[in-house]
Amino acid sequence: MSAPRQLKPKIYSVGSIDWDRRLFDELIPLPDGTSYNSYLIKGSQKTVLIDTVDPKMTDVLTENLKQLNIKAVDYVIANHAEQDHSGSLPQILDIYPNSKVVCTPKCKPLLMDLLSIPENKIITVNDGETLSLGDKTLEFIYAPWVHWPETMLTYLREDRILFTCDLFGSHLATSDLFVTDESTVYEAAKRYYAEIMMPFRKTIKRNLEKIKDLKIEIIAPSHGPVYNHPDFILNAYREWISDEVKNEVIIPYISMHGSTKKIVDYFVGALIERGITVKQFNLSETDIGKLAIALVDAATIVIGSPTVFVGPHPNVVYAVYLANALRPKLKFASIIGSYGWGSKMIEQLTGMISNLKVEILEPVVVKGLPKEADFKALDRLAEEILNKHMEYGVVKKEE
Ligand code: FEO
Repeated sequence: MSAPRQLKPKIYSVGSIDWDRRLFDELIPLPDGTSYNSYLIKGSQKTVLIDTVDPKMTDVLTENLKQLNIKAVDYVIANHAEQDHSGSLPQILDIYPNSKVVCTPKCKPLLMDLLSIPENKIITVNDGETLSLGDKTLEFIYAPWVHWPETMLTYLREDRILFTCDLFGSHLATSDLFVTDESTVYEAAKRYYAEIMMPFRKTIKRNLEKIKDLKIEIIAPSHGPVYNHPDFILNAYREWISDEVKNEVIIPYISMHGSTKKIVDYFVGALIERGITVKQFNLSETDIGKLAIALVDAATIVIGSPTVFVGPHPNVVYAVYLANALRPKLKFASIIGSYGWGSKMIEQLTGMISNLKVEILEPVVVKGLPKEADFKALDRLAEEILNKHMEYGVVKKEE
């Protein structure tokens, strides 16, 4: 599908919509597909392309440029070196041989290593440097670690558009250029934040501080629709990166013969009775992205697992590894589950969550089916979580 769309006079979206993609990095589920947004700006003297597209969709980008009758591209701004945005650079440089790539000094070697872009094709820019297109001016703003070390944002001063590449993006295939349904985009953008940006929460805080005085009319990311009401996504990010957590317990679990399921079911009831929001994920079926979204705001995680070969179930290991890597702002953690004759699950799981700055609450791991004393222990854990949430101030007065 090829269809350039105009954001503003002389500014076009020329990227591609990937309706069919269901997995990113061979890891992240994309239930709603994605897009690789590239933008063309026609200044009175220079024409610029902001980022390119995933190499498998280069033909869509080049066809869009053809439809707009673009005979020369003076600069291609590479805000980020990852291939879903830089992967079509070699073809663009072939089609427009006088074109130069503009990027940060950290991006330059990455483009040379990942895509064999010749060194003499690359111009590096300093933080805050500007580039005149004649009647329009680009300003480059370093924004490292969103989510690679070389990332930057590009601000088009006269039109007040901030091109943010991955930052503020959403994996959402839609024919709408701008956000039309905020609730759909909110979910997709939160999933994107949870899976890609959450480990860099503190860096994002610094980067948001850097752009707080910019006058922004449009935020144009390189995945998903464009924000013509930027406060929608800026406010969402401010909430996600804040230090606030919610009165929520996330329970990723798996059960083999039903004991852990009984334990989880009872425990969920005990939490609900105490007014705590629970989000339960059966790891043999869940979309791991939903678990990541839930981890953005929750105060507590309780991991549920049976014992397999002395340790936790491998699917639980996978989910806990991911949760640890995503570094959510959780405050408390515990473990519930079962074993047949022996278990080192508690030691193994607590050893896997060193990135989480959590207080570990006393686990409840049961031999076989849960019995009266075990249910009491689960009640004790639920009560302890409530008390901790109250101490931490996440239980609101009316709760
Ligand atoms: Fe969309 Fe980090 O690439």
